[in-house]
Amino acid sequence: MNLQGKRILLGVTGSIAAYKSAHLTRLLIKSGAEVQIIMSASALDFITPLTLATLSKRLVLSDFFDTKTGAWNNHVELGLWADLFIVAPLSANTLAKFANGHCDNLLSATYLSARCPVMLAPAMDLDMYQHPAVRENLRKVQSFGNILLDAESGELASGLSGQGRMMEPEHILSQVEKFFSIKSDFLGKKVLITLGPTQEPIDPVRYISNHSSGKMGLAIANAFKSSGAEVFLVSGPISIPLDPEAFHQTRVESATEMFEAARNLHYMMDFCVFAAAVADYAPAEIAKEKIKKSESEMSILLKKNVDIAFELGKLKKQEQIHIGFALETEKEELHAKAKLDKKNFDLIVLNSANEVGAGFQHDTNRVKIFHRDGRFADSGLISKVKVAELILEEIKKVPVWI
Ligand code: PMT
Repeated sequence: MNLQGKRILLGVTGSIAAYKSAHLTRLLIKSGAEVQIIMSASALDFITPLTLATLSKRLVLSDFFDTKTGAWNNHVELGLWADLFIVAPLSANTLAKFANGHCDNLLSATYLSARCPVMLAPAMDLDMYQHPAVRENLRKVQSFGNILLDAESGELASGLSGQGRMMEPEHILSQVEKFFSIKSDFLGKKVLITLGPTQEPIDPVRYISNHSSGKMGLAIANAFKSSGAEVFLVSGPISIPLDPEAFHQTRVESATEMFEAARNLHYMMDFCVFAAAVADYAPAEIAKEKIKKSESEMSILLKKNVDIAFELGKLKKQEQIHIGFALETEKEELHAKAKLDKKNFDLIVLNSANEVGAGFQHDTNRVKIFHRDGRFADSGLISKVKVAELILEEIKKVPVWI
């Protein structure tokens, strides 16, 4: 695939695999990409900037300041310039910096400033690669939405053999081509989706919940994923499987847990879809022991739950888009439009619990999607997969997005 016009930042760090970054640079340039290289100080011990500058046809950057001219190498501009940031090889040291937000050189500062997607190609000896600290750092950087180009197995510089070799340049190139081949406006965007029911405990064995299966939320997740977005799920207890390879996911039970998980992710999201059927009330007290049956009736005092969409609606930034749902049984449009305003949604998806084939559990749904300016789309009774595609089409018509 042609990478014509694609602007790629290539970070090179201190690993013996740095010699491969020359070959990777050649492949990217031959595919038509523009490549700007940033080297860590220790990378200079493994390959000369002259080699990489010749191949990339651009000055290679390493320090915050150009040692000859004193000019400042602006990490923020670099981060904004790029369509994709690849770090290959990624040393254990730089991985640790990325995982913990350390910023002591141009490369790590550019990483923290980058708004484009980031691909990481670690390279180190096999015992290092298996060390718990490295495994934890790899897990953390992936949880931030970075794309891990996992190390390959084979003979290592130490003479040992195992997993730790940087992914071969040809394989990295095909990952880059695959990345850019995903046709979509949502490439490199991050979306949070709440889905499923919540469970509000009454006592150790009983809880209040509802019939949400998570199907609607999962259909939306798949639609975003196949459109190139980075998908973060916060899911109540559902039985349908969620692919750990496809989505970042946090499993929760109560509305409070769902709120905390969603709030922790909200700041870095471009989109938030509130598809979960969140319990509005929870038992004011959770009995420590199973409540024994008695001859008389039993009543349970309920307290109001946090309204997740409402609270995050208060935090919504100008450039973020919130999509809510309304599950109604009467005065449907009136209630839906009221929620659109009250919860600061940009779109609300109205579905009726009365409609045959719509709402909970079904593979189909019938929705009306309302914009703040009054425009709306009516889906008719279609699959939840098609409803999800319609929702993404309507998102593209939201003024903030255009
Ligand atoms: O999961 P399925 O079986 O596929 O069913 C799909 C669905 C019916 C659950 C889904 O299409 C749907 O309608 N989800 C929202 C259900 C709901 O809680 O609607 P509501 O009108 O009560 O809430 C309005 C909005 O506020 C929703 O976006 C909801 O996620 C959000 N909310 C509500 C209460 C609360 N405490 N916190 C919230 O964030």
